[in-house]
Amino acid sequence: MAIARFFRGRLLLGSVEVKEGEFLVDLADSLGIDIPRNCTSGNCGTCLVRLISGNVPYPDPLPPGLDEFLIEDGGILACCMSPEGACDIDTIPPL
Ligand code: FES
Repeated sequence: MAIARFFRGRLLLGSVEVKEGEFLVDLADSLGIDIPRNCTSGNCGTCLVRLISGNVPYPDPLPPGLDEFLIEDGGILACCMSPEGACDIDTIPPL
């Protein structure tokens, strides 16, 4: 069973079983964790969070809400990306 854990900095906010194809915002919602969102389609970057560990594949082509600098800092878009297996997510986005 793969588990997604959501943190705020070092604080563990909650953990939930990963269901294949479920977006990170939906996993967070199921825990009552509010990740801000706007377009929900990868365009605005509002839902940016940081991948601490695990595999959350980047869409190809990259959505407009991401760029190489954000990716270098672990940036992922919660509204349109799904983990493959266990992952740790920091809800504080890369600065
Ligand atoms: S909510 Fe706009 S990119 Fe995710």
